[in-house]
Amino acid sequence: MKVLIIGSGGREHALAWKVRQSPHVRELFCAPGNPGIGTIATLVDIKANDLEGLHKFVLDEKIDLTIVGPEQPLIDGIVDLFEERGCRIFGPRRDAALLEGSKIFAKQFMKKYQIPTAEFHSFTFGERFDAERYINEIPAPIVIKADGLAAGKGVSICETKEQALGTLDKMMNGKIFGQAGMNIVIEEYLEGEEASILVLTDGNNFVLLPPAQDHKRIFDNDKGKNTGGMGAYAPTPVVNEEIVESVKSDIVRPVLKGLALEGRNYKGCLYVGLMLTQTGPKVVEFNCRFGDPETQVILPLLEDDFVELVMNCIDGALTRNVTWRPQTAVCIVIASGGYPDHYDIGKPILGLDTASAERDVVIFHAGTQIDHRTGTLVTAGGRVLGVTALGSQNNLEETIGRAYHAVEKITFDGAYYRSDIGKRAVRFLQKSRDTEHS
Ligand code: AMP
Ligand code: GLY
Repeated sequence: MKVLIIGSGGREHALAWKVRQSPHVRELFCAPGNPGIGTIATLVDIKANDLEGLHKFVLDEKIDLTIVGPEQPLIDGIVDLFEERGCRIFGPRRDAALLEGSKIFAKQFMKKYQIPTAEFHSFTFGERFDAERYINEIPAPIVIKADGLAAGKGVSICETKEQALGTLDKMMNGKIFGQAGMNIVIEEYLEGEEASILVLTDGNNFVLLPPAQDHKRIFDNDKGKNTGGMGAYAPTPVVNEEIVESVKSDIVRPVLKGLALEGRNYKGCLYVGLMLTQTGPKVVEFNCRFGDPETQVILPLLEDDFVELVMNCIDGALTRNVTWRPQTAVCIVIASGGYPDHYDIGKPILGLDTASAERDVVIFHAGTQIDHRTGTLVTAGGRVLGVTALGSQNNLEETIGRAYHAVEKITFDGAYYRSDIGKRAVRFLQKSRDTEHS
């Protein structure tokens, strides 16, 4: 088979790494990819949102299967376009990808099918004075979300009503997110542990991938601004069997049933962002694609052939028998100093060879590029690398240690990473052991 992966980040590197291991794959391409992906696939200089360009490449190269990494092409309808023209592609169609593309759609969908989520109201630009009144009526903290895609920055957790009014003004009158923030959702603040459950589905059957925890804030102890994700680990012990069952029956089944009822074709990966509240798991967000950096810890745990799984989803023939390695995986993101605000690029990256020579360590590139003047690898984005370590199922602490050991070997000017990835889980496990013994 000839396979094309669309995208250029750490998630796409992890997808490519796993796809490359499939005996079905003869040739692998990635558009546009990054230098890390370039070591295992042929890079194609076409942007992820150039749908016609990608389709032309697929025809010219006779690609058998396309796997889409980022959300934008899905929301723009790449799956509709490819399927109408007879090309095999993995991902939801445009009207199903709306679960990520519009927060208002997602919230109304959850309300309609009684899927547990935070209480909410949505407001259009014309209703901005009603939104102000609503903020004055409800208790803080208040969560305000831009309806459309805002590069992961469209959610504000406002500690006070004043802050909430300020955010509302910036989104609706200041148009900080452009069109994406002209309509908004205001919702109840949920408290609890967060977890990500990724689901593979053929639209009817589904399998849950090992539950993961992302670390969205920039600083240790979950302080500072939200980022694209500073690290992840899987499986997370905060999601027990009971939670898994409740996610299946109260969330995933009704979502798939609702989508099918409405004729919205979902073949792909559904990312369910959860808050584990006192009253059970509630949906914080849906994404219509694999998570980043969750994919960098989930795919290394998959024992089976990923390409077969993907093909089964497309063919409506997904079975539940997926084998996972009895291991833990931890990914630490190394970012450019200053991220998620301003940061410099073009800094030479050193130590990658020594770090990747470590046992059970894989390094996924995100924001890297080759400096063509010097031929060296340099930084090219906010999140630069994801260092994933694998370790024994019963020793998350050791796996965390292995990941940091590799991270410490990598240097570039301004390199920054969190030092507490997975630590909450270690504390959680310790607490569970203590209660068992007392
Ligand atoms: P989202 O882009 O919707 O996932 O939101 C980004 C982050 O904001 C989430 O990962 C949560 O940490 C936080 N968040 C979103 N909605 C809520 C909520 N209703 N209550 C508490 N935190 C939230
Ligand atoms: N890890 C969060 C996301 O992929 O959106």
